[in-house]
Amino acid sequence: MKLLEDRIRKDGVVIGDDVLKVDSFLNHQVDPDLMAAVGEAFYSKFKDEKITKILTVESSGIAPALATAMQFHVPLVFARKHKSLTLKDDLYTATVYSFTKQTSNTISISHKFLNSNDRVLIIDDFLANGQAVQGLTEIINAAGATTVGAGIVIEKTFQKGRKMFDEQGVHVVSLARIAAFENGQVVFADERDV
Ligand code: G4P
Repeated sequence: MKLLEDRIRKDGVVIGDDVLKVDSFLNHQVDPDLMAAVGEAFYSKFKDEKITKILTVESSGIAPALATAMQFHVPLVFARKHKSLTLKDDLYTATVYSFTKQTSNTISISHKFLNSNDRVLIIDDFLANGQAVQGLTEIINAAGATTVGAGIVIEKTFQKGRKMFDEQGVHVVSLARIAAFENGQVVFADERDV
């Protein structure tokens, strides 16, 4: 998606060998027009799949997931990472390890919001090691629902998430695919392919 790649080039900040800071438009300050375009792009890829629910994990997945849910006119459900006073019983849970933060989180979704008739599209901001998407697919399986696919805003193709989902047969669509960071610059996979 050219609009997104241009924005990453303009405002993304490469940190070290493997992290891209996108807090000015995606996961701290959020650009609503860019999110609307992201939602439209995922809709055009999955519109024939009879999606009934959009799933993500709080917090950074929520903005692109809501934009997508608004296109499909289906509910967005975000898995919660923190225990809440009102979120106690009847939960599907999965453990998600964050390589970036080196912490484990239990993510949970209420039984009320996912059932065996659901055809689910997972949306997330990054695909790196694939832990978040993996945790969500475990929850979808536990509910007896169907994972139709995963829409990712920014994929880092050099980390292990993509390979893992290709092996599992999960249909992953990424709007920007980063092959490497070289000298503080982003190299997109489509540039490397040519
Ligand atoms: P995953 O995203 O494929 O699950 O892999 P990983 O375990 O490596 O990611 C852990 C967290 O780091 C995730 O956020 C993910 O979105 C974020 N992340 C991974 N790579 C990058 C990157 O290059 N840049 C930025 N900005 N974030 C990255 P999280 O723990 O779910 O936190 P939250 O921000 O959603 O609350």
